[in-house]
Amino acid sequence: MSSAVTNFIAPDQGQAEAFAERIMGLLNAGAVSVMISIGHRAGLFDVLAGLPPTSSAEIAERAGMAERYVREWLAVMVTGGLVTYEPQTQSYHLLPEHAACLTRDAVLGNLAVYGQHVAIMGAMQEEILDRFHSGEGMVYGDYPCFHQIMAEDSNQTVTGQLFDTILPLAEGVEARLEEGIDVLDAGCGRGSALTAMARQFPRSRFLGYDLCADAIDHASFVAGKEGLENVRFEVRDLTGYDEKARFDFITSFDAVHDQKDPQALIQSLHDALKPGGIYLMQDIGGSARLENNLDFPMASLLYAVSCVHCMPVSLGQGGKGLGTMWGWETAEAMLKAAGFREIQRHVLPHDPMNVWFVSRA
Ligand SMILES: C[S@@+](CC[C@H](N)C(=O)[O-])C[C@H]1O[C@@H](n2cnc3c(N)ncnc32)[C@H](O)[C@@H]1O
Repeated sequence: MSSAVTNFIAPDQGQAEAFAERIMGLLNAGAVSVMISIGHRAGLFDVLAGLPPTSSAEIAERAGMAERYVREWLAVMVTGGLVTYEPQTQSYHLLPEHAACLTRDAVLGNLAVYGQHVAIMGAMQEEILDRFHSGEGMVYGDYPCFHQIMAEDSNQTVTGQLFDTILPLAEGVEARLEEGIDVLDAGCGRGSALTAMARQFPRSRFLGYDLCADAIDHASFVAGKEGLENVRFEVRDLTGYDEKARFDFITSFDAVHDQKDPQALIQSLHDALKPGGIYLMQDIGGSARLENNLDFPMASLLYAVSCVHCMPVSLGQGGKGLGTMWGWETAEAMLKAAGFREIQRHVLPHDPMNVWFVSRA
């Protein structure tokens, strides 16, 4: 008899069954998450939000979609507890309390946006499985709709809160922006935060750098359409970035941990600031220690996004692959090592997943 068999300990039946039930719950939740993504992309939550209990035929007609697909999607929403169903009238209803976090004008912020991250993970499964064997990285272009989804995400967490809660974190910066200063957004993506600042502060000059041409094209298109002359976007790989004392204010929104070398980037941003210049950095606010993240909001989602996206794109640049949950401790230590002073750390009530650092050169 092999030792493996000799040492076999029968599982506690009750515990094993309870765990299996938990796994079934997780599988259900994963399926609902992907369907949340589809409902968001299709605009179905927005259609439902304005309606009393309504038939699937009318919901489909209002959405301009095929009834059979809409009805099957509604069945997921009903069994998932997002939408209520009246069997007598075969009608579906999205309660206002549920619409409050699922629609494009959701008062609590639109959580359906994050369903898209789950959906993309499924789409990337084969490529990521290959990387588990090869250890190689990925490039941004490998991910469908990445910049669109990221922009939706940051429109909520960053741009929507920029003037009310975010810029006031950096004391004195709004007054300087009013007067007219030079601003850089590093890893600007589709640039909605920078464009919003350019609109608000016409005397200041704004520059956005990003690696990805499709994101920069979009940002330039939006700014051009509005006729904003004080904002410019440029495709630029920030690896090895080396400009000295050029800017008064530098921002980065969720754009450091997935770089090739975050420490080198932070150092170069420090050096690109004029003396006394301010660096405002938003990044994921988890801890560097796994054991501290057990209760962190959406920790599993963030580690999963890390495994499928943030870590591979850093590795794909020949980088360190620190991952999404590199930790606020790591970020703070890097800011200190780069020579920043008066480093302040904030967590904002609307955005418990992120940490905000305000530092001075
Ligand atoms: C998570 S996204 C955040 C984008 C944007 N700041 C936002 O909040 O929507 C990270 C951004 O960093 C950019 N990025 C990654 N590596 C870069 C590099 N080496 N040089 C310049 N940009 C880079 C990506 O293209 C991507 O747009």
